[in-house]
Amino acid sequence: MGMAEIKPRNIKFALTGEDKRNWFAGNPVATAIMDGASILFPVGETFFIESVVYYKDRIADPKLQAEVLAFQQQEGIHSREHRRYNKAIEAFGGDVPALEQRLKDEIKKLEAAGTSPEYKLALTCAFEHFTAMLADDLLAHPDFMAGAEPEFSKLWHWHAIEEAEHKAVAYDVWNLVGPKGLKGYLMRARAMWKATRVFMGQSTYNAAGLLKARGEGGYGRNMWKMLHFILVRPGVLRRSFPAYLSYFKPGFHPWQHDNQHLIDKFKSAYEA
Ligand SMILES: [Fe+2]
Ligand SMILES: [Fe+2]
Repeated sequence: MGMAEIKPRNIKFALTGEDKRNWFAGNPVATAIMDGASILFPVGETFFIESVVYYKDRIADPKLQAEVLAFQQQEGIHSREHRRYNKAIEAFGGDVPALEQRLKDEIKKLEAAGTSPEYKLALTCAFEHFTAMLADDLLAHPDFMAGAEPEFSKLWHWHAIEEAEHKAVAYDVWNLVGPKGLKGYLMRARAMWKATRVFMGQSTYNAAGLLKARGEGGYGRNMWKMLHFILVRPGVLRRSFPAYLSYFKPGFHPWQHDNQHLIDKFKSAYEA
């Protein structure tokens, strides 16, 4: 069961207006990587909500029921704000609808293949582990976004806090309704492998597309710079690798990594 209070914060971020291209400390590659991930959120989070809410009648525990509702509200607002974010960054260059279409197509393929609600929930748990892991990394390294435009930084920290708060909701539903034993473990592991390929593949593809549209050169030139950012310095994924592997432990639960103190450290900035 989740430990943190899951509190939807209905905030509208002021991202439009001035030209904030290279909002990430003047670094086009870092900016494109974050923007490339942002493009995935509205479609992705809608899928997460649907996958979890599908099971709401199976949940008898009022605490988990309330958590599912709060999860749905948080992801709904994230989706709305990332849609606004994505509209704003289109002005910096990049065909956002075309990039977003790739994730829509991936979901259409799942539907066409008759994917079970259980596997969709397993995929959601895997993606939620990804977002929780990246959120933890952001909150644990306050220098990561030093020099970034404050409103973009504020949005990403807000999203990170809420991803940390609700990181176990999909997983607790999975533990309740998903297949048990080896079958459950294998489905969960298979879903993580799929989620890894989709998340890594699409976010780097998006980032490369944005960089090209922003006059920063093609895929070849930027691939090394992106890998450097992801794996070397600051090396977000390198730092997160142990957390990634922990997902494959039988008996894994998101709150085995307790980062409540990070949530508490940042959330006061968003109190109304
Ligand atoms: Fe979210
Ligand atoms: Fe989430």
